[in-house]
Amino acid sequence: MKFAVIGGTGLIGSQVVEDLRAAGHDAVPHSRSTGVDIITGQGVEESLAGADVVVDLTNSPTFDEAALTFFRTSMGNLVAAAEKAGVGHFVVLSIVGVDQVPGLDYYRAKTLQEDLLKAGPVPYSIVRATQFMEFIDPVLTWTADENTVRLPETLLQPVAAADVAATVAQVATGAPLNGTLDLGGPDTYPLDELGRITLAARGDSRTVTVDNNAGIFSAVTDDVLTTKDGARIAPTRYADWLK
Ligand SMILES: NC(=O)c1ccc[n+]([C@@H]2O[C@H](COP(=O)([O-])OP(=O)(O)OC[C@H]3O[C@@H](n4cnc5c(N)ncnc54)[C@H](OP(=O)(O)O)[C@@H]3O)[C@@H](O)[C@H]2O)c1
Repeated sequence: MKFAVIGGTGLIGSQVVEDLRAAGHDAVPHSRSTGVDIITGQGVEESLAGADVVVDLTNSPTFDEAALTFFRTSMGNLVAAAEKAGVGHFVVLSIVGVDQVPGLDYYRAKTLQEDLLKAGPVPYSIVRATQFMEFIDPVLTWTADENTVRLPETLLQPVAAADVAATVAQVATGAPLNGTLDLGGPDTYPLDELGRITLAARGDSRTVTVDNNAGIFSAVTDDVLTTKDGARIAPTRYADWLK
């Protein structure tokens, strides 16, 4: 089968390309660095020519309101080109609980991306993952100074990018779900505790203090971002990933 992996040079996309190739498929990565721009439309039709499956692993350059325009425009261009090319399966990577955090522009933008895919003519699958383990270090920098990292107690269930990529590749090679698969890591922690575990593993002596108004995850209530019954649980544990 031939796969067009849009965003195939990114964190998840590059690993999905590797996984698909290792399984014997023809997987081609596309992004602005290969001459394909899903916002201007440059190279999009050519990138989907002959593809059986499109896997969209792009990301918006910002997490603010501009993300809504990014996903509205990119899905408009990609879905139209996929329909024209006769693509039989369109896979998107989204976020567990994304439609339950209306206070965050980026989450509204990802929900819009899902809705545009569901409303379109191409058979689809949505994989919703929890926060990537690779994303935790950047999160800790958002609300930190040289002595302290302020974090809310929001429950997170980190999942390794490699496990996300493996699931996306597996879903992409199957029949369209015309639905959603949730994927999370094996352990759930309050973010402040994740911060302490991470700093300790890095030999970073800063203190973590609980601040339920700090950073974007303060907009998230209860266990909205964790998986529920029926989800797939990935194997890699955060404590092992940190090593
Ligand atoms: N971070 C998390 O914890 C998390 C959790 C669940 C789901 N997700 C979702 O996972 C997806 C992938 O994330 P990631 O971290 O792998 O992203 P990433 O590493 O930032 O990669 C983004 C990719 O998109 C490409 N891209 C950006 N703008 C483009 C444009 N205008 N035209 C064509 N390609 C473009 C980039 O390449 P160029 O710059 O060369 O164009 C790159 O290949 C995102 O949609 C995100 O919402 C993230």
